[in-house]
Amino acid sequence: MKRVITYGTFDLFHIGHLNMLSRARALGDFLVVAVSTDEFNTGKHKQCVYPYSHRAQIVEAIRFVDLVIPENNWEQKIEDVKKHSIDLFVIGQDWEGKFDFLKDYCEVVYLPRTRNISTTSIKNTLKNGRSISR
Ligand code: CTP
Repeated sequence: MKRVITYGTFDLFHIGHLNMLSRARALGDFLVVAVSTDEFNTGKHKQCVYPYSHRAQIVEAIRFVDLVIPENNWEQKIEDVKKHSIDLFVIGQDWEGKFDFLKDYCEVVYLPRTRNISTTSIKNTLKNGRSISR
């Protein structure tokens, strides 16, 4: 049984998030998703539209997701990997190389992002009154 973990904010849940979770789960048998808390985001000067409880509940309802945990800080990853007996850490290529220190504890894979969509682009689209391109 291969256990996979991934991290993210997952605000304004979109197709890029869904593709990432689907691919992550396809690489193993059990997927843990760490969703950043509002306090952690505030520390990063990042303001979410949806509060943690909504983002966590939405991610939890995705059928590829087996467990949601809170991401409270940058430092918790090694402990999470140990605590949840993780074999594989997966995240988007926007983080390429940033989590290689986890290779001492599990496999690390950076997956390609879905093109042309992000929470930031959705926020900008809504501000400008355009629609998401298909
Ligand atoms: N992700 C992806 N493809 C996208 C957007 C996100 O594969 N188009 C992945 C990220 O690489 C990450 C996970 O989804 O592994 C969660 O990303 P998150 O930062 O929550 O989403 P973004 O849309 O990138 O948010 P923002 O614009 O605020 O950075």
